[in-house]
Amino acid sequence: MGVIVDKVADLKKIIQNLKHEGKSIGFVPTMGALHKGHISLVERCVADNDITVVSIFVNPTQFNDKNDLKNYPRMPERDIPMLEAAGVDIVFMPTEQEIYPEPDTRVFDFGMLDKVMEGKFRPGHFNGVAQVVSKLFDIVAPHRAYFGQKDYQQLAIIRAMVRMLGYTIEIVGCPIVREPDGLAMSSRNLLLSPEHRKSAPLIHKTLAEARNKTHELSVKEMILWVVNQVNADPNLKVEYFELADANTLLPVESWDHPNGIIGCIAVWAGNIRLIDNMMFK
Ligand code: PAF
Repeated sequence: MGVIVDKVADLKKIIQNLKHEGKSIGFVPTMGALHKGHISLVERCVADNDITVVSIFVNPTQFNDKNDLKNYPRMPERDIPMLEAAGVDIVFMPTEQEIYPEPDTRVFDFGMLDKVMEGKFRPGHFNGVAQVVSKLFDIVAPHRAYFGQKDYQQLAIIRAMVRMLGYTIEIVGCPIVREPDGLAMSSRNLLLSPEHRKSAPLIHKTLAEARNKTHELSVKEMILWVVNQVNADPNLKVEYFELADANTLLPVESWDHPNGIIGCIAVWAGNIRLIDNMMFK
C-alpha cells in the first residue's frame, strides 16, 4: 500500500530516509488523468527501482492557453487506485502553493530546441515544463526519471535541462503506447467528441503510411502529402507537420541526412489539440 504525500517537506524527509537505507528512487512526473501510457512508464520505473514516486500536478506555468488549463481533465479518485495497482510507493500531490510559494521567474535558454514545433505554437510552454520538472527533481532527487516519447520535444528539452543544470538523474524515454486503432494515448483523448475520436486515428495511420513513401517523395513533397491526407478529414486540421533532425529538432532538407529523422505532427480535432510522432529514418 503506497502513501499519498502533499507537502514538499514531508516528501523530502521520506526520500532522505529511503536513500539512507540505500534504496534507489525512480520518478514519474504526471499531470494526472492517467492512461495506459502513464502506467507503462510506472511499470518500467517499478521494475528498475526500489521505490517509485509518481507526482500528480497540473502545472499552470506550462499552459499558454487559460482555457486549456481550465479544461484539463482532473480525476485523482480514478488515478490513485491505478497507481496503487501498478505498485507505486509514493504519490506526490502538491498544491500550487507548495510548488510555487513565490512566482517562478526563471527563464531557460534552450537555443533553437524550444523555438520550433511545439515551442513555436505554444510560446512559454517548455519554459514552464522546465520550471516544474526542475522543481520536482529538486524535491524528489530521484536516481532515474521516466518520460514518454509521445512528447518527443519535451523529452529533448528535459535532457537539455539535465545537462544545463548538472543533474545526475538518468532520463529514461519510453515508447508511445497506442489505442488498438493506432491513436497515441493522451489525457486529452478523453475530451474528444465521438466524431473527432473516430477521425483521430487517421493521424497515426497517415504517419505509418508516409514512412513507407520516403523512396517516392522528397521531404518537401512528403510534408505536403501528410498535411493533405490528414486535412482531407473535415474533423481534423493540421497545425504543423515537420521532418526534423532527431537530436536538434531542426527541419531537414533531404532524406540524405547524417542523423535520425523524426516526423512530428500537431493536429486540431475540433478544439482539442493532439500530437504524435514517428521516426522516419
Ligand atoms: O508530460 C507531462 O505530463 C508534463 O509536461 C510534465 C512532465 C508532468 C510536467 O508538468
